[in-house]
Amino acid sequence: MTSEWELKKLIVEIGKRIWLRGYVASNDGNITVKLNDREILTTPTGMSKGFMDTDMIIKVDINGKVISGNPKYRPSSEAKMHFEVYKERPDVNAVVHAHPPYATSFAVAGIPLNKCVLPEAIIVIGAVPTAKYGLPSTMEIPDAIREHIKNSDALLLENHGALTLGSDLLNAYHKMETLEHTASIVWKAIQLGNMNVLPAYERDRLMELRSQFNIPGRIATCDATPMPSSDSPAGAAPSAMPASGAVSEKTIRDITERVIAKLAKK
Ligand code: 13P
Repeated sequence: MTSEWELKKLIVEIGKRIWLRGYVASNDGNITVKLNDREILTTPTGMSKGFMDTDMIIKVDINGKVISGNPKYRPSSEAKMHFEVYKERPDVNAVVHAHPPYATSFAVAGIPLNKCVLPEAIIVIGAVPTAKYGLPSTMEIPDAIREHIKNSDALLLENHGALTLGSDLLNAYHKMETLEHTASIVWKAIQLGNMNVLPAYERDRLMELRSQFNIPGRIATCDATPMPSSDSPAGAAPSAMPASGAVSEKTIRDITERVIAKLAKK
């Protein structure tokens, strides 16, 4: 079993990684690890996660009461969101919250990452839902995530960021990497004007692999409906974009063509 000291060191290491990879700015983001049914380690509030040391990590109970830690530091203001996960999902032992730019862009646009696009993403994070906006540090966020965390280990938080859950800290962190990597590729495919969605048959084969590999955690099944082709009537098939208020595939294609034409003139 990993000792409390080793877990504190790992939290510091993962904090460094999320900061170095640009998943958080300034003092954003928070990380927790469950020690047992009563005790949780949390990052301190208002500190850069890229510059922590083990002395800053605080041990709290499931209601947020400090058990031990340097009195100079207070527990994350978002600890309630993490506690909600531990209450709802006894199989989860670590939670990472960050604001990675591509995933957060989808969260701001209100577009869930729910299409079957990349094999690893289909297997590891599945269809990533978007939880309704809530005021940070209040019960609005735990209330907003409650339904989603029942079926998903990766979530977008509307106008806020992303949340990943894991059987251990590395597992939760790796899901954050997979989420951001997927979001950046989907974003770029949209800019290129086309996104080929893997068909249901392929998705089902991947889901079969997931059970063979015994991958822990929960995922929602991704959407294998193809994107509408450029010559099909608008709205002929559901797209990754919401029906109202979103930029259509045709608009993106037109803008891309205009930009390419401009670049070609230079
Ligand atoms: P804390 O520093 O209190 O953990 O909050 C950071 C954050 O990202 C809030 O969303």
